[in-house]
Amino acid sequence: MSDDLESKIEEAIKNPRNLGEMKDADAIGTVGSADCGDMLRMWIKFKEENGRKIIDRATFQSFGCQTAIAVASVATEMLKGKTAAEASTMSGEELAAPLGPLPPVKIHCAQLVEGALRSALGGEEPQAAQTKSTSPTLLDSIGIDSKSQTKMKVVLRATDAVVSARRIHEHS
Ligand code: FES
Repeated sequence: MSDDLESKIEEAIKNPRNLGEMKDADAIGTVGSADCGDMLRMWIKFKEENGRKIIDRATFQSFGCQTAIAVASVATEMLKGKTAAEASTMSGEELAAPLGPLPPVKIHCAQLVEGALRSALGGEEPQAAQTKSTSPTLLDSIGIDSKSQTKMKVVLRATDAVVSARRIHEHS
């Protein structure tokens, strides 16, 4: 991975944008990667502007690698102001564009974000499981109390092949 990409990912991980459940979301999509077992859920809220229905906000939760979190962070920023039709045509590559080109081994991380987006927008995504807004949070789904003052920190081992997760306190 290039130094530039690594530093952009680190920056996004330090200060992820739009992280967390959205209580009043209009659409929710969840997807799991068959490649690595990581999961990502995205919430989307629409608003009307000049007669167009556009994305007002998008948020995410991830039980996944740092790259997926970084892509979700930049992607949820980019989605603001797009119509559902515009957003649903965005590829993983486009969603990850602010980070720069991803190495081949990390392309599926951006596709995880694309899958969650398509799932939320009702597109065809074989691995996606669409959920209702009353569904538990992603943390609930994986048995972690989302009300506790914790967030997920994901640690990549040297080979990038093994992903492990640990919880850290918000203020640590
Ligand atoms: Fe699986 Fe990044 S989403 S390694």
